[in-house]
Amino acid sequence: MQFTLTEEQLAVREAARDFAQRVLKPGVIERDSKMIYPTDEVRQMAELGFMGMMVSPEYGGGGMDSLSYVLALEEISKVDNSCSVIMSVNNSLVCWGIEHYGTEAQKQKYLPKLASGEWIGAFCLSEPEAGSDATSQRTTAVDMGDHYLLNGTKNWITNGGTSKVHLVMAQTNPEAGHRGINCLIVETDQEGVKIGAKEDKLGIRSSDTHTIMYSDVKVPKENRIGDDGFGFKFAMKTLAGGRIGIAAQALGIAGGAFELSVDYAKQREAFGKPIAQHQAIAFKLADMATDIEAAKMMVYRAAALKDAGMDYNQAGAMAKLYASSVAMKHTVEAVQIHGGYGFVKEYHVERLMRDAKITQIYEGTSEVQKIVISRDVLKGNLYVPTEGTAEMA
Ligand code: CAA
Repeated sequence: MQFTLTEEQLAVREAARDFAQRVLKPGVIERDSKMIYPTDEVRQMAELGFMGMMVSPEYGGGGMDSLSYVLALEEISKVDNSCSVIMSVNNSLVCWGIEHYGTEAQKQKYLPKLASGEWIGAFCLSEPEAGSDATSQRTTAVDMGDHYLLNGTKNWITNGGTSKVHLVMAQTNPEAGHRGINCLIVETDQEGVKIGAKEDKLGIRSSDTHTIMYSDVKVPKENRIGDDGFGFKFAMKTLAGGRIGIAAQALGIAGGAFELSVDYAKQREAFGKPIAQHQAIAFKLADMATDIEAAKMMVYRAAALKDAGMDYNQAGAMAKLYASSVAMKHTVEAVQIHGGYGFVKEYHVERLMRDAKITQIYEGTSEVQKIVISRDVLKGNLYVPTEGTAEMA
């Protein structure tokens, strides 16, 4: 088993770290408190190639492996999780989904624009009454011969206000249950697409999360991804990789809070010495370091399994489950280490604590990850694989 990174992976990590600390950090507090969408920052991420990192070069992407993507996402998430979720949805869900299951025409039409960041994509699965229970889609895509007629409402859509392309899951054949669901590529300038108000959220406040309404939207048949009825499996397969991205985000949040805590504990003095010299604080740092390292192994391993073409469904769910709980636990500890300073925005840790919570909710709650893991275990996969090849189709 490899525990070292390649020169290229180290370079990607360094570039992302430099960008996050130098470009994202100065304005992150203001963007968060005023809910300002990071337009210029996303443009710069695109220029650095961060919006389509894993897309093949033939479609205008960086052609990088998942581990490089995870490393970049981790560094950006140490600072700005609005930027990292925008990047994560565009890369892991939208670009990856189209590249792996789209037609050649769909890839050629959409990937160059999405990978370059000229267009941003959104993944529209959740509904007012279909969150964890994702098979209960109420949005309908009625087959009209040469097109589908799309009607319904999607909730909590990341990139909802800025995206040009939506991947929309909708029910075509209710009698077939989840096998009647399709995924349609919807361009947002089509008649009948209405964007609701931006949500005022606890965390990731500058990312644009919206309700989307589709009213008699005519979607050409050629915009369906995969065969008729493939939409739910498409969503599950895409989310399996997306969860590695959110696990990387959680890892970054925990790492960001840890780095700030170490710096603070070394310079803040109490009872005549730096607080890092008191065991009450030093032991917290030791626990943080240990848990973050364990989460890191799980997240990197899930990405490495994906890169090796092996089954990463269980590993990705475990990585997200564990890393998000480490992020939540240790951002709370980071605020405690900072004392009163931790409770004010200037010190960054309160924002990371608020941002951590969403990693236990989106792309499947922690309970959903336990469903995925336990079902895999009960199928006989007691351990994450160390050999073999995944069935991807
Ligand atoms: N790969 C391929 N197929 C899969 C699969 C996977 N990873 N997971 C499930 N399937 C298939 C199953 O094999 C089954 O197919 P068959 O009936 O043909 O055998 C079918 O999908 C249905 O699966 P289940 O019976 O397991 O479905 P379920 O109703 O019990 O639900 C669930 C399972 C895991 C809870 C699922 O509904 C789920 O993941 N829910 C959470 C949805 C979610 O993550 N939403 C997040 C929204 S996106 C988002 O947050 C993006 C953002 O903006 C940040």
